[in-house]
Amino acid sequence: MLEVKQLIKSLPNGRKVLNGISFKVEKGEFVGILGPSGAGKTLTLRCLNGLLKPDSGSVVVQGTDGKRVDICQISKRELRRARQKIGVIFQGNHLVKRLSALENVMIGRLGQISTFRSILYGFTDAEAAEAVAALEKVKMEHMADVRTGNMSGGEMQRVAIARAIFQSPTLLLADEPISSLDPSNARVIMKLIKPLSENIPVVGVFHQPDMTAKYCTRVIAIKDGKVIYDGDPHLSENLLAEIYGEELQQIEANKNIPALIPSEPTLVHTS
Ligand SMILES: Nc1ncnc2c1ncn2[C@@H]1O[C@H](COP(=O)(O)OP(=O)(O)OP(=O)(O)O)[C@@H](O)[C@H]1O
Ligand SMILES: [Mg+2]
Repeated sequence: MLEVKQLIKSLPNGRKVLNGISFKVEKGEFVGILGPSGAGKTLTLRCLNGLLKPDSGSVVVQGTDGKRVDICQISKRELRRARQKIGVIFQGNHLVKRLSALENVMIGRLGQISTFRSILYGFTDAEAAEAVAALEKVKMEHMADVRTGNMSGGEMQRVAIARAIFQSPTLLLADEPISSLDPSNARVIMKLIKPLSENIPVVGVFHQPDMTAKYCTRVIAIKDGKVIYDGDPHLSENLLAEIYGEELQQIEANKNIPALIPSEPTLVHTS
């Protein structure tokens, strides 16, 4: 469960970049946030994982112990704990490029074991097996030992999802997880993210209304720091025009970029 209430954030110059953002997401929901550039989508997401403290408002998340906690009101120490259970996938994904896929996945849980154990013993065999299982889920186990710096954007994004899976989060946030990918890889990533919402709320920011219509259970549109739509993911042309204004043409143009590779990944046989 995630409950966001009346988030307000002003810039030092007084401009309100978040102007009363409220919404609720239950487990079983994959919510796509849409909106024009500069609308306040990333700032909202940063408030949701405690990276940015709003001037007022609350972000209530459910911890692993089942207790609800407002991450805007807790101490830094408690926030660090709460954030260990919030999975994040970003555009460009924040992987450590010199480390292997498996090492990057394991980093996802580093904050959850004591510094003492991480230095002296590292991960247990059971934890290592779980990390490999997370890579299997995203079909990347064959590249477990490859440095992520040598991977394609789609492969890196899969590793980032495996890392979030291994973290066993109670909330998953994604900021433009498919923006740098070709249409085929974008679909692969959406198909991997969607099932994660069966057990936890998933909130992602997207610039592709056709993708959110296909994969999300609900869409929230943010414009000028306000929620201007919250509902069915299939948006009418009128609504899209209202959300994006002049940006709509660009969105429509992007939709027509042909897939560079077949829609489903296929194995290439070499003899
Ligand atoms: N650190 C900051 N200092 C000053 N202004 C900021 C800062 N971060 C964001 N802003 C401003 O706040 C507004 C909302 O930014 P935000 O990053 O949330 O937009 P967005 O909806 O994610 O846009 P995009 O789709 O381009 O990523 C923008 O006008 C941005 O310029
Ligand atoms: Mg953004």
